[in-house]
Amino acid sequence: MQNTIFITGASSGLGKAAAKLFQSKGWTVIATMRDPKKEQEISSLERVHLYPLDVTNPDQVRSTIDEVLKHFKVDVVFNNAGYGMVGGFEAYSQNDIQRQIETNFIGVLRVAQPFITYFRKQKKQGILLTTTSAAGIAANPLASVYSATKFALEGWSEAVNYEVNQFGIRLKTIAPGGMATDYAGRSLAYIENAAYTPLWEKMIAGFEDGSTGVHFSTAEDVAEVVFEAATDNRPQLRYVAGPDAQKIADDRKELGQQKQFELISKSYQ
Ligand SMILES: NC(=O)c1ccc[n+]([C@@H]2O[C@H](COP(=O)([O-])OP(=O)(O)OC[C@H]3O[C@@H](n4cnc5c(N)ncnc54)[C@H](OP(=O)(O)O)[C@@H]3O)[C@@H](O)[C@H]2O)c1
Repeated sequence: MQNTIFITGASSGLGKAAAKLFQSKGWTVIATMRDPKKEQEISSLERVHLYPLDVTNPDQVRSTIDEVLKHFKVDVVFNNAGYGMVGGFEAYSQNDIQRQIETNFIGVLRVAQPFITYFRKQKKQGILLTTTSAAGIAANPLASVYSATKFALEGWSEAVNYEVNQFGIRLKTIAPGGMATDYAGRSLAYIENAAYTPLWEKMIAGFEDGSTGVHFSTAEDVAEVVFEAATDNRPQLRYVAGPDAQKIADDRKELGQQKQFELISKSYQ
């Protein structure tokens, strides 16, 4: 039987790595992205079909999903599109906050909803995977709203499972730590405020000298975790991807929120 995956944010990074991995395993891949005309690398692969999709555009989400479902039977949805917003919270404009929530959180819900209806009506044991982050396990400094969107996705995904497991539908999250994608170059919005520059510089220095414990996994390694989540048949809620994310998850469990917070705070003093 041939399986089909629908991916958002497949133009680069983890979304593209997942598109290539699933294609190499014989899957049909619906690779969605804001500007398919720009895509050169995966467009020529067999069984890869490009569709336009900006997750902040409700009409386009609806029409693209309708169009895809006319031609394909989708088994797995990988909600991956997202970007990071960094900077001191007090400097964020309403617009900055709304755009972050609209893309990272509401965009995921918007794509998931019609697929849940489709899976239920087709009596399909569909799987919805969502990229969250280690920042959705323990919040990151200078990424307050970003962290909030990733925490929100974890809560949403867990809650919907209670509703749809009865139909054989499952939701799972993939929580990567650092990933060596072009994220910092293309998907990071920095909100300037001089009062927070010293903290930002400390964070950057920590990334560079390794003292923050961030390990940059490759997108290909994290895509393997996505593949595992799509195919292992286990009712697991969250797949932590990368040693740094695993340490954050372990510390949260073993030390608890308060002690972990104190430990992380010290590294920024
Ligand atoms: N890199 C990390 O360290 C890291 C760590 C943990 C979690 N994550 C999460 O991993 C996911 C993928 O990020 P990445 O590292 O692979 O970065 P990336 O290479 O920059 O990919 C981000 C993708 O999201 C797409 N995107 C952004 N806004 C969109 C919108 N409104 N509609 C549709 N697509 C949109 C981008 O499309 P365009 O090409 O059109 O811009 C791009 O394909 C994100 O959810 C991110 O939060 C990343």
